Amino acid sequence: MTDSASRLTEPVSPLTDTFGRRHTYLRIALTERCNLRCTYCMPAGGVDLLPRHHQLTFEEIIRLSGLFARLGVTKIRLTGGEPLVRKDVPALAAALSRLPGVETLAMTTNGLLLDRHLDTLHAAGLRLLNISLDTLQADRFQAITRRPGLEKVIRNVDLTLGAGFDAVKLNCVVMRGVNDDELADFARFGAERDIEVRFIEYMPFGGNGWDHDAFVPYKDMLSTLQSAFPAMHPLNDGPHETAKTWCIPGFRGRLGFITSMSEPFCGGCNRIRLMTDGNLKVCLFGRGETSLRDAMRAGATDDELSILIDLAVTGKKAAHAGMTALATQDDRPMIRIGG
Ligand code: 5AD
Ligand code: SF4
Repeated sequence: MTDSASRLTEPVSPLTDTFGRRHTYLRIALTERCNLRCTYCMPAGGVDLLPRHHQLTFEEIIRLSGLFARLGVTKIRLTGGEPLVRKDVPALAAALSRLPGVETLAMTTNGLLLDRHLDTLHAAGLRLLNISLDTLQADRFQAITRRPGLEKVIRNVDLTLGAGFDAVKLNCVVMRGVNDDELADFARFGAERDIEVRFIEYMPFGGNGWDHDAFVPYKDMLSTLQSAFPAMHPLNDGPHETAKTWCIPGFRGRLGFITSMSEPFCGGCNRIRLMTDGNLKVCLFGRGETSLRDAMRAGATDDELSILIDLAVTGKKAAHAGMTALATQDDRPMIRIGG
């Protein structure tokens, strides 16, 4: 069946956009607070924190998530800021994984607080963990995150590996002159532990000092790694997979590349974002936002919220504006969007 024919026969969902993309993956930013200050995420001057009552409450998050699940979301990822600085995260995780329709619950964390929460998170039904780690050198960790903590993160990565999760991955944002000489070290680090290391292209966001010279495109990362590991070869990736994955014969673990800038994967995008303030953002790089919080607090019913969600999803563009346009766009800093 052709794409257009299948669109005619499938029920139209508020989460299907005008390009036929079904949005089954919801990312929820739980807080704008963080116990690190990564240069690529947090503007040097920090961000003004949202007044507490602007932030979605536990009940509001569960209500919206339940609605999204009824509309077809099957996977939820908790992000931030640092999600684990929010005290109610284990309880939230438990409530989210009990929602009918939610099959997969994931979290992206900087790993610093993981040891305190591993058992409760696992018992709460969380199954996938991505841990951010951009360097394996202590002085660089301090320079990138503006805080100490490398040893703690590595210790927590190792603890996490023994804690029964379905997948643990590392997220590494690659920046020229900062950590691009560590790609092979990261590959070995992943191989020693049998985990996937994901190299992420450095993206421009409000106030993160992105500049073209620091940007390392996928093909440059590949050629660096291929000179260290000439036998590495690509694996087959699923249609909604944002990472291009490779393996190195004889090595455990895999390498993933998130090529948001040089080879955007907008065509297969299945994700939408709910931010800390209750705004729905249908594209990481789109400016459009819809306040589901305000609608809820004004008494909107679930049907009315679905109409708002439908309008937002219908307005989703085919693709982002490209690297040069993004670099000059005055968008929210990443700490406010959620990684
Ligand atoms: N470029 C790429 N990835 C980013 N992240 C945050 N800021 C950026 C950026 N400027 C992602 C990283 C981090 C997660 C929290 O968000 O993957 O691990
Ligand atoms: Fe915090 Fe993650 Fe942003 Fe770093 S990237 S400041 S750890 S939210």
